[in-house]
Amino acid sequence: MSTPSPIDARAWRYLAAHRVARLTTVDADNLPSVVPICYATDGAMIYSALDAKPKQVVPTALKRVQNILNHPDVALVVDDYREDWAQLSYLLVRGRATVITGESEEHARAVALLRAKYPQYHAMPIEDQPIIRIAPQHARFWESRPDATDSGAEPARRLDFAALVRGRRSVRAFRPDPVPRALIERILEAARWAPSPHGRMPWRFAVITRPEIKARLADAMGDTWQQTLAMDNEPPAVVAKRLANSHDRIRTAPALILLCLYTDDLDHYPDAARQTAERLMAVQSLGAAAQNVLLAAYEAGLDAGWMCAPLFCPETVRGALDLPDSLVPHALFPIGYAAKDPKRRPRLPLDELVVRWE
Ligand SMILES: Cc1cc2nc3c(=O)[nH]c(=O)nc-3n(C[C@H](O)[C@H](O)[C@H](O)COP(=O)(O)O)c2cc1C
Repeated sequence: MSTPSPIDARAWRYLAAHRVARLTTVDADNLPSVVPICYATDGAMIYSALDAKPKQVVPTALKRVQNILNHPDVALVVDDYREDWAQLSYLLVRGRATVITGESEEHARAVALLRAKYPQYHAMPIEDQPIIRIAPQHARFWESRPDATDSGAEPARRLDFAALVRGRRSVRAFRPDPVPRALIERILEAARWAPSPHGRMPWRFAVITRPEIKARLADAMGDTWQQTLAMDNEPPAVVAKRLANSHDRIRTAPALILLCLYTDDLDHYPDAARQTAERLMAVQSLGAAAQNVLLAAYEAGLDAGWMCAPLFCPETVRGALDLPDSLVPHALFPIGYAAKDPKRRPRLPLDELVVRWE
């Protein structure tokens, strides 16, 4: 049986949601030393790699390592500073640190946790480096508005832009935890600021969280898709498997955001070429709104997938959700907390993607 953690769930959430901590160690002369560290957690331990960021000495000769070997008691501070002082908070964790090296299962797990949190570690050989493990013994949380309610929402990942765009990934399986309404609103707020032709915002959204509506949508889309797959002469077992997967994705996603094209406010042209371009621009703008949804979800500590299925059965989706004819369903985004880290698809190098630069 595992022993209960000496720090509570809120402290773990706060740690998981932040990117950098200040680690204090004490040297042989009892003088404190503080360094900023990247770290990852697993709900029992805090891990920090002695990574390949520029250093003046080999990792094991670092002052923080020498200090830990002499004196394993450490303190860690993670904080939020805002100019609005009603929104300040920090977490102070005291614990005992150890340096783990080599090929232990724990070292491998710590490397995986660090890489899942910081995409930058994928390009660094941290599996060959020692890792600091901190076993928390005590935590103190402080905030300037102690009456603020903890909505249970996992706080935002608060990534810088490069980490946000590189960290976002398509997730196809979620934990059952519900998505707080405030986070859905935050995602939709981001979508609202997408660019659009003439600023006409040719997108509308439907949010589905109620199980019976998800089931209705999944059933209706499944029926239509079955007819389509039958046209492709796929073997029945393959059809059944693909249908079951798609059905499960819709039913088990904690929340669904449906992105619809809305063209009523677009310009109208007498010639077909301009009319086609106008509609195409609106569809391009759906892509921009979609990317805002995906990035905002990731930044909010969530993950999202992208299902293009509504594009193939817009009437069915409209019927299942009682949507007006003016909306053309284009994409469905299942949203929630990732059940596991998905495999990433590699990207082409820039010199293949940029065809000319003069
Ligand atoms: C227009 C569009 C349609 C997509 N449709 C689906 C889909 O129906 N099912 C799915 O699993 N992923 C779908 N995806 C997600 C892509 O497979 C995914 O973005 C791609 O493999 C790259 O992986 P990443 O998003 O994890 O970086 C779609 C993506 C786009 C942009």
